[in-house]
Amino acid sequence: MRIYMEKDYEAMSRRAAQVIAAEITHNPACVLGLATGSTPVGAYRYLADWYRQGQLSFKEVRSVNLDEYKGLAPDHDQSYRYFMQHNLFNHVDILPENTQVPDGLAPDPAGECARYDAYIRSLGYAHLQLLGLGRNGHIGFNEPGDSFVKETHVVDLTQSTIDANARFFASADDVPRQALTMGIGCIMAARRVLVVASGADKADAVYNTVCGPIVPGCPGSILQLHPDVVLVADEAALSKVTAAGVPVCG
Ligand code: F6R
Repeated sequence: MRIYMEKDYEAMSRRAAQVIAAEITHNPACVLGLATGSTPVGAYRYLADWYRQGQLSFKEVRSVNLDEYKGLAPDHDQSYRYFMQHNLFNHVDILPENTQVPDGLAPDPAGECARYDAYIRSLGYAHLQLLGLGRNGHIGFNEPGDSFVKETHVVDLTQSTIDANARFFASADDVPRQALTMGIGCIMAARRVLVVASGADKADAVYNTVCGPIVPGCPGSILQLHPDVVLVADEAALSKVTAAGVPVCG
């Protein structure tokens, strides 16, 4: 795992965007696995800026998102489809038909999960998978548990995730209790993984992901087995990793 430490959120966002832009430049028809949440917002802003400035095109890019809340319509302002439209897709030249987010309203959620897995497999998996990290170490919505779940599946969100995401809803009661998430199999099948993290409240999750035992109690820890992971984080998020003497770049 290569670890890049940046001073703050802004520098972290720029660095992460540079990694994504490099992937697109290297392979204009790449498959990008994308994440939502507050951490990648700054990186998406940089990518949109560089597109506007003519430095980058998403014309041939295909994207697959990690997850979606079960029960939220694509035009619900807290759905992950809505998030992607407003933070990235509406601002770049990616073709709508080349963007995929699990359907939170699918009448047959298990069938939707199987369809999603088959689609990602048909693309040959992501060239670059972007991940945020939950405070409990979740990746996608793969919550801490007794085993790593390989396939796209419907998951019950943990109370800590519901509490963490309540900031986006009118109240914690409004946060959906379930989500459809890409499984660990698709994430680990990506050729390269880019993890982004910012802030002191991620320090434990980052430490457990980088230095902890590889256990389903910290889903991010499985990334230690992936051959090509780049972690871009700010000083606060890396504080426990650097205190442990792990070498970082930047
Ligand atoms: C989002 C996702 C989640 C988030 C994680 C961190 O698509 O899959 O794993 O990346 O919950 O969220 P933020 O960035 O809001 O702290």
